[in-house]
Amino acid sequence: MFEFSLIQDAYKEGSGMIARRAVRAILFCGQKVLMVSSNQGDYKFPGGGVESGETNREALKREVREETGYSDLVIGPCVGTVFEQNDDIFGSGDCFQMQSYYYVCCLGSDAREEQQLDDYERALKMQGVFLTLSEALEQNEAVLERERRHIKTGMLTSIPWLEREIRVLKQLMKSPLARMAFEVYQCGQIIKHAVCSADMVDEKSGHANFVTTYDRQVQSELRKRLLRIEPDAVFVGEEEETHASVATGKAFIVDPIDGTTNFMKDYHASCISVAMTLDGKTELGIVYNPYLEEMFLAQRGCGAYRNGKQIFVSRQPLASGLVLFGTSPYHTDFAKKSFAMAFEYFEKALDVRRSGSAALDLCSIACGRAELYFELRLSPWDYAAGALLVEEAGGSVTTVEGEDITLSEPCSVLATGTLGR
Ligand code: IPD
Ligand code: CA
Ligand code: CA
Repeated sequence: MFEFSLIQDAYKEGSGMIARRAVRAILFCGQKVLMVSSNQGDYKFPGGGVESGETNREALKREVREETGYSDLVIGPCVGTVFEQNDDIFGSGDCFQMQSYYYVCCLGSDAREEQQLDDYERALKMQGVFLTLSEALEQNEAVLERERRHIKTGMLTSIPWLEREIRVLKQLMKSPLARMAFEVYQCGQIIKHAVCSADMVDEKSGHANFVTTYDRQVQSELRKRLLRIEPDAVFVGEEEETHASVATGKAFIVDPIDGTTNFMKDYHASCISVAMTLDGKTELGIVYNPYLEEMFLAQRGCGAYRNGKQIFVSRQPLASGLVLFGTSPYHTDFAKKSFAMAFEYFEKALDVRRSGSAALDLCSIACGRAELYFELRLSPWDYAAGALLVEEAGGSVTTVEGEDITLSEPCSVLATGTLGR
């Protein structure tokens, strides 16, 4: 949901280089976030450098514990990354580069230990505090203003993280996408750790159309968790008896498990798909594949991201491209035409693929792994989130006839990044 660079000092020929990886927690607790205050009046997200031999998640647990004392951290998805480059603030003369990964988190409990600060952090009197995003932003902007007046040259060195955290706070205030991603990630763990058996499957209407107890469980968890974030939204889940209109106001369009047949077969190619719409238009899109731990996020006008890195569609011509297609398995009347079209594309492209999840196919187009996807009949929960991901990654999504797709009823879908079809 964000990726940006802050280059304060250019690399100077001949100087050394210090490169670090850092992890930071966006830790929500009700309407507040946990930040680390300093005696400069600013707030930073808890976190810091990953030590050698540590995974990102191990480092984040350690850093949050050391800086704030909180020891029961529940870590969700990575939603953003920031690259920074400046002269080493500790005066070594080296160029300092740091790539930060921001993870959405919550506390499993209030368990707390003694803080463990290093000398630099102790001198700044760092402390963990809860406040709202807007309070943190307001304070940080005031400190930035004060610093700017002091240092007429423009760039800051005394609080090196200030500009970075201001940009992240602003991004988080734009929408509830990060909170939603955390809930989707948690529900993804149900799918990942599910134990499939024959007695959990029921048949639905249509050919080879099934629903499992997990589809229902994940849907009811998502309903509870998403409506906690947006209580006024309408919830449209695939496995519900009736589907409300999304034409006006806010709505969630949810496929709790896209790729149910894969799920039943333990094929490890299924995902959760969640779109948030406003007056019938998708504003936020989330697709999470728990097997590969891939979190795809898009916000209208703000780009598309995979695990905190911006993604783009492929611009390769179809002749050197992969074509993905769905067979609309529950509507066998489309089968002949689907395979005829797939054969036509097979002759024009490198090869064709059939994954078993429309939402994952759309993500593959969004991140440039394939050049074109089509399916002759899908329901809005299959494509609402994925379509926004493709568009925000620079691609186009229409019906097979080239019309606008609709969220009010099923339609065909053709998604591509390449110009020639
Ligand atoms: C299905 C999958 C599949 C597509 C079907 C969808 P489900 O969704 O996305 O790839 O071919 O048309 O209905 O039933 O697994 O949620
Ligand atoms: Ca589906
Ligand atoms: Ca489904």
